[in-house]
Amino acid sequence: MKNTKSMHPTVFNTLHSSGQEELESLYKDWAKKYDYDVIELIGYIGHIIATELLLKYLKNPELRILDAGCGTGLVGGVLSQKGFQNVVGVDFSQAMLEQAGDKDVYQSLELADLTEEFVFEDKTFDAVICAGTFTCAHVGPDALIEMVRVTKIGGYISFTVREQEWDSAPYAEVIARLEALGKWQRIEQCFTEYNLKEGASCQLCLYRVC
Ligand SMILES: C[S@@+](CC[C@H](N)C(=O)[O-])C[C@H]1O[C@@H](n2cnc3c(N)ncnc32)[C@H](O)[C@@H]1O
Repeated sequence: MKNTKSMHPTVFNTLHSSGQEELESLYKDWAKKYDYDVIELIGYIGHIIATELLLKYLKNPELRILDAGCGTGLVGGVLSQKGFQNVVGVDFSQAMLEQAGDKDVYQSLELADLTEEFVFEDKTFDAVICAGTFTCAHVGPDALIEMVRVTKIGGYISFTVREQEWDSAPYAEVIARLEALGKWQRIEQCFTEYNLKEGASCQLCLYRVC
């Protein structure tokens, strides 16, 4: 992985974990300190940029949103501040979900592995948001196919992909295939800052389901 200015040791470990068991254990130990570390020490803004991009297009606060890989609920916090309460959060870490529950900004929180088929029916959500979870050793691009499936036609999917993950996994290919199949269309996409103090960037993407 390309060196960044100063990578937090826990971030380094999560990006280099050898499998789901190790990753889950890292988040279990990190959950209580996660918000402080990522916001104050790393300058993480993934939750803000992905939510702001989505809310440029999503105006009705009653719409149903899936926060995929919700972690401690940073996205839910931003959505709640903007009046969006109909938000479902999923994550594979019980410890991270407990932190999210304490924020009281989700309608429901569920334990789920995003590398498997989602438990939701087709066209359940008006939007899906996934911030910080498409990253090395976490969730790969195939989850985009499930995100499209559970989103209503005309709904939006907003997500970040850490730059090193974008460069090493076939995101561009999966995105292009979904476009070629007429499953979604690009609304906005750019390369932008992600962890300000670490000097890491991401692809920030917004697609509309067709
Ligand atoms: C960097 S955190 C981002 C959390 C949150 N979205 C944010 O913006 O702060 C990545 C999250 O992905 C979750 N995660 C990793 N692999 C996962 C998987 N296979 N299924 C569901 N969640 C996963 C972790 O538990 C963690 O909460």
